[in-house]
Amino acid sequence: MAYDCIIVEIEDEVALIRLNRPEALNALNKQLLEELAQALTEADQNDKVRCIVLTGSEKAFAAGADIKEMAEKSFVDVFVGDLFTAPTEAILRVRKPIIAAVSGYALGGGCELAMTCDFIIAAENAKFGQPEINLGVIAGIGGTQRLTRFVGKSKAMDMNLTGRFMDAAEAERSGLVSRVVPTAKLIPEAMAIAGKIAEKSQVAVRAAKEAVNRSYETTLREGLLYERRLFHSLFATEDQTEGMAAFLEKREPQFRDK
Ligand code: CAA
Repeated sequence: MAYDCIIVEIEDEVALIRLNRPEALNALNKQLLEELAQALTEADQNDKVRCIVLTGSEKAFAAGADIKEMAEKSFVDVFVGDLFTAPTEAILRVRKPIIAAVSGYALGGGCELAMTCDFIIAAENAKFGQPEINLGVIAGIGGTQRLTRFVGKSKAMDMNLTGRFMDAAEAERSGLVSRVVPTAKLIPEAMAIAGKIAEKSQVAVRAAKEAVNRSYETTLREGLLYERRLFHSLFATEDQTEGMAAFLEKREPQFRDK
C-alpha cells in the first residue's frame, strides 16, 4: 500500500517505518496515525518481517499530536470520535517487537507513541516531554500513565505539570530509554538490535513480549504465574530442543520458529 505520511522499507527481516511529515516535525495527524496503524498491522502479518523499527527524522521523532488539526475540535468531536483510540489500539495488537528509534523531539503524542513501542533507543540529541499543559490540556495517549511507570511519579509529575523536556542522558538514567547512541548512528544501531531479535526463535520472542507486557497489567503473583506457564509451554517447541542442544554442542542455534 502507498503511504503519504510514512515511509516503509523492509531490510533483512526488519521493517523500518519512518514518520514523514517534515513540514510539521512529524506531528501526528489523523492520516499519519491511520497509515501507521495500517503499516504496523501489515508488518505484523508479513512473514518476511521479524522485528519492526519505528523512527522519525533527525530533528523530530514526532512533535506531538497535530495541534492545527485539534485546535478547532469540540468536546463532542473528540469524545464521540474517540480521538486517538483506534490507532493506539492497533499498535498494541502488534505481536512482533517494535523498537522506537528516537532522534530529536519526542513530545506529547510523540513521546507517548515511543512509549507504546516495546522499548526506546535514543539518539544523543533526543528530547522527551509532555508539554500538553502549555496548550491547556493534558496528555491523552499515556503520558500520565506509561511515563509514570517508566520514570516514577516524581519525574512524571514534574514533566506533566511543567512541560519541561528531558534530554537523552536523563531519559536513560530514569529508565525511559534502554540505550543512548550517537545521533548519526541511530538507525544502523536500531537496525542491528532489531536484527539480533530477528535471529531468535519467534515463538520465544512473542512469549517474552507478552510476559513483559503482562507485568504492567497484573499483580506480581499473577504475572509470575503467567511467565512460568509460558516458560513451561516453550518446552513443547523444537526451538527449545535446538537452542539448548546448540549451547551444549558449542554451536550457533538454527531456530525454525517451531
Ligand atoms: N502540531 C502541528 N504542527 C506542529 C507541531 C504540532 N504538534 N509541532 C511543530 N509543528 C509545526 C510548526 O507549527 C511549524 O510549522 P510552520 O512552519 O507551518 O509554522 C513547524 O512544525 C516547525 O515547528 P517550529 O517552527 O515550532 O520549530 P522549532 O524548532 O522552533 O520548535 C518545537 C520545535 C519545540 C518542537 C515546537 O514546534 C513545539 O513546541 N511544538 C509543539 C509541541 C507540543 O506542544 N506537543 C504536544 C501536542 S498535544 C498532544 O500531543 C496531545 C496528546 O497527548 C495526544
